[in-house]
Amino acid sequence: MKIAILGAGMVGATLGRRFAGAGHEVFFGVPEPAEHEDKKAFAAVGTVGEAARAAEIILLAVPFGSIGDAIERCGDLAGKILVDCTNPLRMADGKLGLTLGFDDSAAEKVAALAPGARVVKCFNQTGFDNMANPAFAGGRAVQFVCGDDSEARETVANLAGEIGFDAVDAGELKTARLLEPFAMLWIHLAMTTGLGRDFAFAILRR
Ligand SMILES: NC(=O)c1ccc[n+]([C@@H]2O[C@H](COP(=O)([O-])OP(=O)(O)OC[C@H]3O[C@@H](n4cnc5c(N)ncnc54)[C@H](OP(=O)(O)O)[C@@H]3O)[C@@H](O)[C@H]2O)c1
Repeated sequence: MKIAILGAGMVGATLGRRFAGAGHEVFFGVPEPAEHEDKKAFAAVGTVGEAARAAEIILLAVPFGSIGDAIERCGDLAGKILVDCTNPLRMADGKLGLTLGFDDSAAEKVAALAPGARVVKCFNQTGFDNMANPAFAGGRAVQFVCGDDSEARETVANLAGEIGFDAVDAGELKTARLLEPFAMLWIHLAMTTGLGRDFAFAILRR
């Protein structure tokens, strides 16, 4: 598939490398394409608009505060799958927390900014290092996928599965209200306990 990744930081670069390794055509859309010459070994690099126009699936791997700018630069997103990987983080009283929750989510903000796009939430729930390798001795890291378009959800779940996640369909886009705090739990544990970043959540099944 042709996949645009907006943002080539920790999440964007890691997922881009993994998708390219799985045989997909990756196109990074970044503010300064000249700063990402190293990515040309496995992907195309251009502006946000160029990447978005070239792709069937577009991943938002930018800071939450940049979603409006990135989406605006995409142009018409009607019919395209737009995957929201962001978490609406902020520092308050020296601690990292969420700016949204309970009755709204970053994913729903993204959907409001991109009318007609098939918005899916995924790849926000664990650290980028686990995106590089979701395989653990005890099984595969889980990655929930939610969105209002079932075909788009399935496409994104398949992508997550291809790079090694246990992808689980979590239903409608509003489930992002749960998946963003779930990501915050991972961040909290990584930052404040001895677990560090080298752990992931998994599903046990009977
Ligand atoms: N880090 C993690 O482990 C992790 C895990 C799950 C989810 N997330 C979420 O994923 C998102 C990205 O996190 P990250 O850690 O990869 O951040 P990061 O390393 O800071 O990378 C952010 C990237 O977004 C680019 N960017 C900023 N504004 C942009 C815009 N308007 N248009 C296009 N690109 C833009 C930046 O480009 P410049 O450098 O040129 O400004 C940079 O390449 C965040 O929302 C974060 O909450 C992070």
